[in-house]
Amino acid sequence: MASSIPGVAELVAGARRLYGQVFGEEGPQVAVCAPGRVNLIGEHTDYNQGFVLPMALPMVTVVVGRETSGQDVTVVTATEDADEPHRVDFSLPSDGSPLSPGEPSWANYVKGVIQHYRAPVPGFRAVIASSVPLGGGLSSSASLEVAFYTFLQQLKPDDGDKISKAVACQQAEHTHAGVPCGIMDQFVSVLGREGHALLIDCRSLEATPVPLADPSLVILITNSNVKHSLTGSEYPTRRRQCEEAASILGKDSLRDATMKDLDEARGRLDDVTYRRARHVIEEIERTIQAAEALKRGGYKEFGRLMVESHNSLRDLYEVSCRELDELVSAAMEVEGVFGSRMTGGGFGGCTVTLLQAHAIDRTILHIQERYSGTPSFYVTTPSDGARALTLS
Ligand code: GLA
Repeated sequence: MASSIPGVAELVAGARRLYGQVFGEEGPQVAVCAPGRVNLIGEHTDYNQGFVLPMALPMVTVVVGRETSGQDVTVVTATEDADEPHRVDFSLPSDGSPLSPGEPSWANYVKGVIQHYRAPVPGFRAVIASSVPLGGGLSSSASLEVAFYTFLQQLKPDDGDKISKAVACQQAEHTHAGVPCGIMDQFVSVLGREGHALLIDCRSLEATPVPLADPSLVILITNSNVKHSLTGSEYPTRRRQCEEAASILGKDSLRDATMKDLDEARGRLDDVTYRRARHVIEEIERTIQAAEALKRGGYKEFGRLMVESHNSLRDLYEVSCRELDELVSAAMEVEGVFGSRMTGGGFGGCTVTLLQAHAIDRTILHIQERYSGTPSFYVTTPSDGARALTLS
């Protein structure tokens, strides 16, 4: 059956306990959290300035801590799967020189956020705890970046601009994790809204909340529990191929290209570049249509677009894998399932399935029976973005 995830209060309690064990009596002064996300549709469109339709999850990363005098920073993670050591100590450079990334890798997100924080950063002590599965394609890294940024805001406030906050966290990922990601994950982790998905225009950075709280509907996340090592190298390659296609078409980005433009230029594009561009152009259109369908409760149409998106990611963009394809096929065999697709960067991680609430038990059972690996299931709802929490 579906896995239960620890709630925010439980995570905070655990982080406070660990804080006490590591730092002694004076407890943390602030606590914050930021969510992971699942993308409903609009995959690999964000860095092409297209549309995406993600929602924030109830799974969050929590940071508790306290400002200290001086320039010293100590951060401890309670995440068991994080690489060792689980504690880092460093000093904030007084001359503004950069904090270089290194080992352990989880601390690079913290260093990156400090680097790109939009106000002076004081010394501090902090503990991180998270219910977002690590490396499962649900944006555990964006939730850590945004949680940390939100933590720093409690110590020394910046101007409070939420879009600039998301962009600063994206920069942290670029410079300190070496992943040239788009804006989707950080954006929805900052601006997610309970009961809504967000239609984000990744060019204007405007977001339209789309209600998604129908009790007859369930959003099921299935974790394949596999992660293929391709992820690291393939993502930047896809991004480059898209930029190349846009440049051959004489456009700033694929957002400005139509299928007519692409077909007219076919002779000047190699087959792979053509297929990558086709996915992006059609996926941007599908995302707009899907948001419209959702607004009017057109779940069947939404589901059909999800499956089209998956097939395009599998055949044209080539970022799916056997396990994700199996999970989608299994889900689509169940009556009451509207649609299912891989979500996030690909090569493992999770699928997202939209179904009638009454079909949930048989869907989970059927996927369990049909999947060759060991899946985990999360029944989930759209949740709020990053926030400060009160410590009682
Ligand atoms: C990762 C990136 C996002 C986005 C997705 C694919 O999650 O962090 O910016 O590009 O892949 O849609």
